Amino acid sequence: MRVVMIGSGYVGLVSGACLADFGHRVICVDKSPDKIDALERGEVPIFEPGLEQIIAQNTTAGRLGFSLDLPRAVADADVVFIAVGTPSRRGDGHADLSYVYAAAREIAAAVTGFTVVVTKSTVPVGTGDEIERIFRDEFPEKDIVVVSNPEFLREGAAITDFKRPDRIVIGTDDERAIDIMREVYRPLYLNEAPLYFCERRTSELIKYAANAFLAMKITFINEIADLCEQLGADVQKVAKGIGMDKRIGDKFLHAGPGYGGSCFPKDTLALVKTAQDHNSPLRLIETTVAINDNRKRAMGRKVIAACGGAVRGKKVALLGLTFKPNTDDMRDAPSITIVQALLDAGADVHVFDPEGMEAAKSVLGPVTYGDSPYAIVDGAEAVVVVTEWEEFRALDFRELKARMAKPVIVDLRNIYKPEEMVKYGFSHFPIGKRI
Ligand code: UGA
Repeated sequence: MRVVMIGSGYVGLVSGACLADFGHRVICVDKSPDKIDALERGEVPIFEPGLEQIIAQNTTAGRLGFSLDLPRAVADADVVFIAVGTPSRRGDGHADLSYVYAAAREIAAAVTGFTVVVTKSTVPVGTGDEIERIFRDEFPEKDIVVVSNPEFLREGAAITDFKRPDRIVIGTDDERAIDIMREVYRPLYLNEAPLYFCERRTSELIKYAANAFLAMKITFINEIADLCEQLGADVQKVAKGIGMDKRIGDKFLHAGPGYGGSCFPKDTLALVKTAQDHNSPLRLIETTVAINDNRKRAMGRKVIAACGGAVRGKKVALLGLTFKPNTDDMRDAPSITIVQALLDAGADVHVFDPEGMEAAKSVLGPVTYGDSPYAIVDGAEAVVVVTEWEEFRALDFRELKARMAKPVIVDLRNIYKPEEMVKYGFSHFPIGKRI
């Protein structure tokens, strides 16, 4: 199979590299010369465990290449994936599809024989129809089928998610396209990952519905966590107890400071807008979005309360900034809102993150960056765990306590056992447990 990936961002790079690893010949295209130069030198612009190695192996094997030249790359491709960004449009929250349509036109102008064009970016329902209309009206001589094939990989676990998916959703009813897509995913098919074929619009909606459901599940357990704090129950045990029911499932029930990242906030908002436009509002998701926004602000207040109600002139140390561990992505990270709340309240904020500090510098206000957890806690009145990086789980708590002005830990990810923290002499403020 000759596969081309348009857009060498997160989804494009991971998908391109993994498809090359399956044995296909893949070219990843991007408009940024800096990005393509870096990739050709073997430098991977994002932090994702395992990605650099898989890219290196497949470029060396000659199966994976990078290019700025879209027309040349797609000219004799069997399948072209569109994996460009679909950011929230300023003002109305809808997904901005200008990059998708521009890519579609460039592809159509350049392809020669029968080609399958696949939307891998998260695109609103009906986008495939619009691309098909553009092809029909503007490129009537071209033989192209438009397919939807949303991606469900998580940052930080992207390679495993791509190679061992729960399912692969493919939206098309064109027989030739079905054959090509079966061939693309044949290695996974042999691994028994189910290929789920459905209509294109249904496939587009599956992606949004999946993300909205997961965001709602997290928000549900976050609200239960607040209730646990009032009632003297333990949210981790409630999550375990309900998660053992297979109808509920045990995943995505970790209470925390609210969901962030490049997908849930953007996709829930876009789905809410689409539903409103079609006079079929999704009230559960509207509420999910509002609760999650409030929660991030409430986490700032929780830290201030743990510091005795005021932080003016006090040093507060934050461990973890990225929206989740194993990524350098700061998009919509809860840390942004928490830091702002602390700065507004007059705190002296010191931060550390294993991978996210470069990205943080352009989104956080005036904070001090340190190069280890210990480097930021000297004289601190509280340490706040915002992102659950593995390396924070086994800190030297004696040293931590000795360096701090007051032994206060606000554990927004429940990574420490309350009994242990008490043993070390800390006041420990977890999520969803009475303290
Ligand atoms: C999410 C989905 O999980 C993927 O299936 C999807 O492909 C992707 O969006 C996308 O649309 O591209 P991602 O945003 O990378 O993946 O990360 P998640 O692991 O889903 O975490 C999202 C947020 O939810 C993080 O802020 C995380 O801390 C939070 N979260 C997650 C919780 O607070 N509790 C949980 O139990 C799980």
